[in-house]
Amino acid sequence: MSKPFACKIKDPNGELVSNISDNAAFSKVLDLAVSRRKLLQGSAALGAVTFAPLGLLASGAASAQTAGKLPRAGRLGFKSVPFSTADKVIVPKGYTARALYSWGDAVGIAGRMPAFKKDASNTTAEQALQAGMHHDGIAFFPLPAGSDNSNHGLLAMNHEYIDNGLLFPDGTANWDLNKARKGQNAMGVSVIEVKKDAAGQWQVVRPSNYARRITVQTPMSLSGAARGHRLMQTRADRRGETVLGTMQNCAMGQTPWGTYLTCEENWSDIFTKQGEQTALEKRYGIMKTEDTYRWSTVDERFDAAKNPNEPNRFGWVVEIDPYRPDSRPVKHTALGRFKHEGANVVIAPSGQVVVYMGDDQKFEYIYKFVSKNTYNPANRAANMQLLSEGVLYVARFDEDGSGQWLPLIHGEGKLTAANGFADQGEVLVKTRMAADVLGATKMDRPEWIDCDPYVSGSVYCTLTNNNDRGKEGKAPTDAANPRANNLFGHIIHWQENAGDAAAHTFRWDILVMAGRPDTDDKNHQGSMKDAAFGSPDGLRFDHRGVLWIQTDVSTSTLNMKEYQGMGNNQMVATIPGSNEYRRFLTGPAGCEITGIAFTTDNKTLFINIQHPGEPSKGDTDPLHPTAISSWPDHDPNGRPRAATVVITKDNGDVIGS
Ligand code: FEO
Ligand code: CA
Ligand code: CA
Ligand code: CA
Repeated sequence: MSKPFACKIKDPNGELVSNISDNAAFSKVLDLAVSRRKLLQGSAALGAVTFAPLGLLASGAASAQTAGKLPRAGRLGFKSVPFSTADKVIVPKGYTARALYSWGDAVGIAGRMPAFKKDASNTTAEQALQAGMHHDGIAFFPLPAGSDNSNHGLLAMNHEYIDNGLLFPDGTANWDLNKARKGQNAMGVSVIEVKKDAAGQWQVVRPSNYARRITVQTPMSLSGAARGHRLMQTRADRRGETVLGTMQNCAMGQTPWGTYLTCEENWSDIFTKQGEQTALEKRYGIMKTEDTYRWSTVDERFDAAKNPNEPNRFGWVVEIDPYRPDSRPVKHTALGRFKHEGANVVIAPSGQVVVYMGDDQKFEYIYKFVSKNTYNPANRAANMQLLSEGVLYVARFDEDGSGQWLPLIHGEGKLTAANGFADQGEVLVKTRMAADVLGATKMDRPEWIDCDPYVSGSVYCTLTNNNDRGKEGKAPTDAANPRANNLFGHIIHWQENAGDAAAHTFRWDILVMAGRPDTDDKNHQGSMKDAAFGSPDGLRFDHRGVLWIQTDVSTSTLNMKEYQGMGNNQMVATIPGSNEYRRFLTGPAGCEITGIAFTTDNKTLFINIQHPGEPSKGDTDPLHPTAISSWPDHDPNGRPRAATVVITKDNGDVIGS
């Protein structure tokens, strides 16, 4: 999410910085002159610069998971839309975009489908049966399970955070536990059933046996080495095995066995602890006080002075089976604890499951998990255990273009009891601190990661921005994060050794330094003017090898002179190696574009519009909720609502053609 106050940030662009480890900048690791990287580092240009990625230079077998579904696209077939400040979703000529599932819409549980009240007066209990706020990651699951059906399926999606000014008729006035509970019911995950009707229009199926809301109150199990650990035990759960709820769910992942991974990102914004804090609390950014969510003032579960281990039970990746609405979600501790953005799953040639994950905060790290056991397409029950056991690695990007995956294994190297890691469970609870010890590379806020479905071991990651890079007292620029005051962000790419996602080494390069059109670098080719974008966040390959990029420039940053003329947040497409980017979509005022889910035939694209109408600071004013945006209802007496948008091509062809 972009909301700066949600993270207690004072600067316009980012978040609290809690990585104060002294990992070396790796300009010191190797002193090799690599001309491209030197060029970038030296120029610190704000202009967009692109390069052909390594993956297209290497030959590689198609990955087991997704290749071969459709022929690889050779070109983009639509014309870029211009920058826009309009309060609507704009897509190219010949395409239609329509809001499908907005905050407050009934999820579709039989007999319990309360209608949205446009003054936000729905009760706490009603909110638990309705879409939450601020949709983010999303995935499409065909029905029936195991099919490739592109006309009927389930959508699982995250509701990342809340805006108390929108959620109640009177905002945070008369604050009490019941209000906090409504907020808790407006976060988490929705599972809805969607189907094309007789006219070919997508509709939400209501009622549906699959419809489900998962909230901050939904019981979930723990798996992996931190399950039952002393650091996970609380008064309410003395065994440390069962957690109530998930929250601040940002991006996601989707497994080949048909489950949804939801990722707990800015969970530390919820907790407070006054007085002296432990090193662990400081490293994860627990605050002394906070006045955005206010849950800890009325619900002592979120007061870490009273429940010191409760924060340890958040910051995980949670696996949800959307096909079984009665199933209990599982928090997989083997995937590490940090501010999880997403969890991108790919199957290695060995059959091991690899999950790529970013920790989205300034100067945090990129991780991957490699499962111990292998994927078996014929044994779903066994696959459901795969994320419980394996090795977690963190990335080091060296200046010569090579990279290392460093394992977080208790007892190896410095990860010992003497250094504060009593066992593997403690390594996982303290993932960031273990990664510090290993010397991982501090990145410019890793967001989404995805793997090229046509080039095995070819991986891309958005680094959304970091306006502290190179500042006095902060980490300097380095080869992988070459721009000081990195307002616009960039996209990094790596090629795993021998095309094997489970490899321990890789080669890396930069796909694009995002930027603005009037400072285009002469090195680029193609239509970079169309490509101009900032703060890349959502990133996903479709089934034709087109790479889709969504932006999350915060509302305060949009007002900066560097961004003038670039309009609302947007979505662009590229075919890696083409050096051509086209703007496919612009969003309504004050929004962020999130979530990318294609049906298997690539003819339907679901995205999310998050926080339309977001003010540049503070909550939305409940007396004037439509001051910035009234999307999607455009009712002056209503409220802006985050929503899932369905996009199709009018002639029924594939998206992007
Ligand atoms: Fe919730 Fe890193 O975006
Ligand atoms: Ca973001
Ligand atoms: Ca977001
Ligand atoms: Ca994001």
